[in-house]
This record gives sequence, C-alpha cells and structure tokens, in this order.
Amino acid sequence: MGVGAEKKWLFALFSAAFLSFLIFVSSICGLSSSYYVFSSDKPFTSSAHHGAGHPPAFGYYIYGGRDDGDRIFRLLLAVYHPRNRYLLHIGADGMEIERRKLAAMVNSVPAFRAFGNVDVVGKPDPATYMGSTNIAAVLRAAAILLKVDRGWDWFVTLSAMDYPLITQDDLSHVFSSVRRDLNFIDHTSELGWKEGQRIEPIVVDPGIYLARRTQIFHATEKRPIPDAFRVFTGSPWIILSRSFLEFCVFGWDNLPRTLLMYVTNAMLSEEVYFHSVICNSNEFKNTTVNGDLRYMVWDNPPKMEPHFLNTSDYEGMVQSGAAFARQFAKDDPVLDMVDAKILNRGNNRVTPGGWCTGRKNWFMDPCSQWGDVNVLKPGPHVKKLTESSSKLLEEWKSQSNQCR
Ligand SMILES: *[C@@H]1O[C@H](CO)[C@@H](O)[C@H](O)[C@H]1NC(C)=O
Ligand SMILES: *[C@@H]1O[C@H](CO)[C@@H](O)[C@H](O)[C@H]1NC(C)=O
Repeated sequence: MGVGAEKKWLFALFSAAFLSFLIFVSSICGLSSSYYVFSSDKPFTSSAHHGAGHPPAFGYYIYGGRDDGDRIFRLLLAVYHPRNRYLLHIGADGMEIERRKLAAMVNSVPAFRAFGNVDVVGKPDPATYMGSTNIAAVLRAAAILLKVDRGWDWFVTLSAMDYPLITQDDLSHVFSSVRRDLNFIDHTSELGWKEGQRIEPIVVDPGIYLARRTQIFHATEKRPIPDAFRVFTGSPWIILSRSFLEFCVFGWDNLPRTLLMYVTNAMLSEEVYFHSVICNSNEFKNTTVNGDLRYMVWDNPPKMEPHFLNTSDYEGMVQSGAAFARQFAKDDPVLDMVDAKILNRGNNRVTPGGWCTGRKNWFMDPCSQWGDVNVLKPGPHVKKLTESSSKLLEEWKSQSNQCR
C-alpha cells in the first residue's frame, strides 16, 4: 500500500469515526429521532397556528437515490420553514450510511431540532426507473405525512434535482388566497403518442418482489385503453390538497385503489395515477388547476427528462413565475445565483423568513434565533408567482381546461 492510499484510508476511517461520533452524540441527546420515521411525534412545541385564518403550510416529500444526500440537504435548507413538514427519502439503491449521514446533518441544524418537523425515511423503498414502485413510494410518503402532522394543507413532491424559485414566505403568502381544496396538477386526456407507447404496453416492476435492483420488463401483449374510466396523463410534479390525499390514501371509495391496481402494470405510473384518480372522481374533479408551477425546459424533440438548467436559464426561470424548477446538476452555479438573488440564503443556512429574528451578518445565521413563526415576510419575487397562479386560477374558474 502506497503512502497516498494509506492517507486516503486513514481519512476514510477518520470521517467514519467522526460520523459515528455525530450519530452517537445525537442519539445520547435523544436527537436521533429524525432517522426513524415515526419517532418524531414528540409533542409539537412550536407555536405554529394552522387552519383557516392562518397562512397555509406544506408537507414536502423530497426524494433521491444513491449519492443524493448532500443535494437533498441543500434543497431542504432552501425550502425550509418551521410551519411546514418534511419527509426525506434516499431510495433503496442508496446505502444505509447515506441515510444516517443525512439524519446527522438534519440533527445538526438547531431550528430543525427545535421544531422537530423533518424526518428521514429509515426503511427505504425501491424506485425502479419507469416502474410503479415510484407511485407506491409517493403514496407511502403522503400516508406518513398525514399521520405525523395535522397542520399541512398541501403535499408537494420534489426530487433531489429540483430547486425553489421563491421563498417559503412567498409561497405561503400566495397560497393564502387559494382555496385549500384545490389541486395543482398538470393533466390532459389527449394521450397522443403516449397511447401506444406508454398506456397500452404492459410492464412489470421487479422492485415489488425482487430484492435485487433490476429494470422493468415488458410483456409481449398490449392491453386496450380502459373504458371503465378515462386515462389522464401529465406532469409527475404535483401540489395536492390534504383532502384529496386522504381520499387516495384512506380509500373509502374504491376508485383510488382500482386505479392503483391498474397502474401497477403501467409505465411511469407517476404521470398517470393522481391525474386519472382526480379526473374520474365526481367529488374532486372540479378542484383541478391545470398547472404544476414548475419551470422545465424540454429539448426538441423532448427526451425523457427536461434539460439541465444553468446560468443562461436564470432570467427565464425568474420571469416564468414558477415556484420550483428542474432539473439541475449537483451544485450548478445557477443554484448559487438563486440562493444569492432570490432566497437570500447563506451557505449551509436555511432560507431566511419572517420567523428569523437574528441579526444578519457574515458570522451569524439570522435563523439561529426566531420569533413568531406565523409571521410571513414575502419578498419581491412574490409578484411573478402571484401573476402565474392567478392566470391558472382564472383558467380553473372558466373550467376551460379541467379534466378534458
Ligand atoms: C362540478 O362542476 C360541474 C360543472 O360546473 C357541476 O355540474 C358539478 O355539480 C360540480 N360538482 C361538484 C361536486 O361541485
Ligand atoms: C447551458 O445549457 C445550454 C443547453 O443545454 C447550453 O447550450 C449552454 O452552453 C449552457 N451554458 C452554460 C453557461 O453552461
């Protein structure tokens, strides 16, 4: 073994020891709770007020795969607010040590510890590319968030490759004037080329029954387009109301369960499931706002994923009035621009909001001290988001593009 190799090995040993130390310290302080999903229902000590007459709150599900821990943590800092709830998930392809490290990072932030509103999924789920395990993981996240927190009004899905374009104070301010039963879900029943290439093929997700990671496989037969219900498809990035998710998760009507069984053998279930459930439900179809409030740029012809955004997309992102954008390469410089110009967020610090009362300077994090968490301080970027959401709400009122 050369000296260099030995040094590397020693460094690895040191890092591992330091990490174990962190985990040890946090566990003896009773702070390891965030690692296990259900142990953080310690009494909620924060003075957050929820419900009608108070600003809305959000339940965030942030997920990624192997090596995504640092990005998930950065995204968490960027979208954090004490009134919200967060569930972080590193999928089954990631390693146990990554989940522990993420939990230790979460525990290292005083506000996260004090408000106890961030959890890391301890028992991960697989997320097979294009397979139905993805929708199972989203439904599980919704179920956990419903169980652990009564306060949130909307459920938001984000991946490690996403980033916000507004502060949480902005988002909560804009959503204060949105009816809380509305769902932001981009959808259409015009399947086009997807009919033959996405909906009719029958696929099997081995993540459901095989322990080892493999790809979905295709049956040789296709199945006809259903006539017991209409298929809708659209963006997998959703902002769903609490009441609609209760409908999906508790399943007192059989529609959400029937469609779940249907999409078990469908490709990209996350682009079909909620869209079809909501538009086939008389109770909820009038609550669909046709938009996802995300900024994405597609190649022409489109590939499977939108193209990676960089600094040359910054103006377009800001002008779009979207709440979130995707996708970004890890630590792309444009994320630093968003931190500096929009979020006003320092390195390794949470995005400041009306709840932060500390003085802002280079050595002090303004959010290391806090006051009333129900006070919002929207910034200049709230204007664009107000415009874009008003436009979507106008369309919703006219019912011109709802479940069609
Ligand atoms: C939904 O909208 C349609 C068309 O305006 C209306 O007939 C129906 O009663 C509404 N359903 C609910 C549950 O409000
Ligand atoms: C940004 O992305 C576009 C499209 O992928 C590319 O053409 C351009 O060169 C990139 N710009 C920078 C500064 O990386």
